[in-house]
Amino acid sequence: MLWMRSIHRFLLHHFIFVCFLCTVFIFGYSLIYFLGDDQNQVLDFSEYDDNITFWSNDYHISPIHDLKNTLTPLGVRFIDESLSASCSTTKTCAKHLYVLSTLNGMNPNQSIRKRFYEFYKDDPLMNHVDAFVCFHPAAMCELFMPFNRTIIVIASTRYELGRFAVDEWNQWNQNLRLIASDSRNVVAANNLYDAEYIRYFTGINTTVLPHMCAYTNVHYRSVNTRSEFILFPSNSYVQFTQQFFEELNVSIKKAKTSIIVQPLRKLYHTYDYSDLVRHPGIIYLPYQVSTMSIFEQYTMNIPLFFPSIDLLTEWHLKYSLVYDRTWDKVFTGKGKSRSAIPPYDLNTTVPDPNNEFDRSSIYYWLKYADYYQWPYITYFESIDDLVSKLLQTNLNYISEQMSIYNQRKQSKLLEDWQNILKRISTSSKFLMKKEKTQ
Ligand SMILES: *[C@@H]1O[C@H](CO)[C@@H](O)[C@H](O)[C@H]1NC(C)=O
Ligand SMILES: *[C@@H]1O[C@H](CO)[C@@H](O)[C@H](O)[C@H]1NC(C)=O
Ligand SMILES: *[C@@H]1O[C@H](CO)[C@@H](O)[C@H](O)[C@H]1NC(C)=O
Ligand SMILES: *[C@@H]1O[C@H](CO)[C@@H](O)[C@H](O)[C@H]1NC(C)=O
Ligand SMILES: *[C@@H]1O[C@H](CO)[C@@H](O)[C@H](O)[C@H]1NC(C)=O
Ligand SMILES: *[C@@H]1O[C@H](CO)[C@@H](O)[C@H](O)[C@H]1NC(C)=O
Repeated sequence: MLWMRSIHRFLLHHFIFVCFLCTVFIFGYSLIYFLGDDQNQVLDFSEYDDNITFWSNDYHISPIHDLKNTLTPLGVRFIDESLSASCSTTKTCAKHLYVLSTLNGMNPNQSIRKRFYEFYKDDPLMNHVDAFVCFHPAAMCELFMPFNRTIIVIASTRYELGRFAVDEWNQWNQNLRLIASDSRNVVAANNLYDAEYIRYFTGINTTVLPHMCAYTNVHYRSVNTRSEFILFPSNSYVQFTQQFFEELNVSIKKAKTSIIVQPLRKLYHTYDYSDLVRHPGIIYLPYQVSTMSIFEQYTMNIPLFFPSIDLLTEWHLKYSLVYDRTWDKVFTGKGKSRSAIPPYDLNTTVPDPNNEFDRSSIYYWLKYADYYQWPYITYFESIDDLVSKLLQTNLNYISEQMSIYNQRKQSKLLEDWQNILKRISTSSKFLMKKEKTQ
């Protein structure tokens, strides 16, 4: 038993060293365990201590990307756990998100909503959050209501996305009115069409918080190095682009000019912003009433050409040009003549926004599209008229005016956001957070 005696002696002599080894082992093991299972336990949240912190779980990467770009310089911090299929582009894929996932997040059922709240109500990271922001789907914010903090809803498309069943849509309207009734919250849309659309169904006086999309970092050049005008066609279900080009060719020949118009994807498989600003201008056959691309191009001061509202109404009736305007059309390929739910004000004289057959209704609602609200956009009444506008428009003048307008728009937007941030920074939640960390 000599070897046992020597081990015993070794342990006695090196007691401290053995203790140290044990400690290192236990500590290392738990660290690996925590890192693997729950990063929250070892992450440092101090960057959120002094600063207003927004939480987001969008299914669209661009609106939140733009908001970060606008508000990060003002000291706002973001916890962005994206559920979008394109999240790898912005490196914002949800990694430390629990209960909620891409599969259940578009319309989480009651049990998931409850589990989400139960999981996060005492979570150290969630305790740093001052406000939730929801663009797409806007209804994601229903999930955050139990947390009793600032909620910022900014619809970037028709706000019933994810709540199509009649009872779910009505419940969402009720919740949205509840959200709007609390002065800590904001109910907005990033465009006037969606702001008016929400008002039609809920009676809420929404505001418009548009995008700047200043992240493109390039601007229109007064000397174009590419001669082609770019055509952004409607979506691929719309059988009109071919006919448009045939008629355009006839008009160009008639005008005896050498103008060249090419569809975007023929010019570029994937484009950089710096590609777009080299061209003289962009012509749209719009598939939607507001898109991030139009925001981006307007901010880049690129001259834009759109069908006049009369022409677009005509083309929409004939070819469903603004294909993505209603969810019925997007999901079934068939437009409806009415919405699934009635308007908030049963006596309203405003026509149904989801009527895809009535000319005056389509006209009424299309006029709220971004491209009929912003100045310095060039409208054409026909394809012949487009050719003459392409020839006669003073592109550099238009671009300079857009640039001036963009500066004004930016200062107004920053002012609006500063007012919202001021309100959050005096909220009890934010003050409590600061108190705890001081
Ligand atoms: C908080 O925001 C301010 C600007 O308002 C910024 O200077 C500061 O660095 C931010 N703090 C942290 C911890 O990021
Ligand atoms: C809620 O959704 C989850 C997963 O999506 C499902 O497992 C569960 O059965 C659903 N619960 C109810 C009450 O429908
Ligand atoms: C929600 O928060 C507000 C302000 O922080 C507080 O006055 C109110 O009592 C809270 N409501 C609930 C239900 O906890
Ligand atoms: C919305 O604004 C209109 C006009 O200013 C006003 O008459 C109406 O009461 C407001 N509605 C709500 C819900 O605040
Ligand atoms: C229009 O003309 C261009 C250039 O001449 C040609 O490349 C294109 O194929 C024509 N498109 C149609 C639809 O005729
Ligand atoms: C709507 O119209 C009906 C009948 O004209 C009237 O009795 C009712 O008070 C109106 N409702 C509202 C909310 O104005």
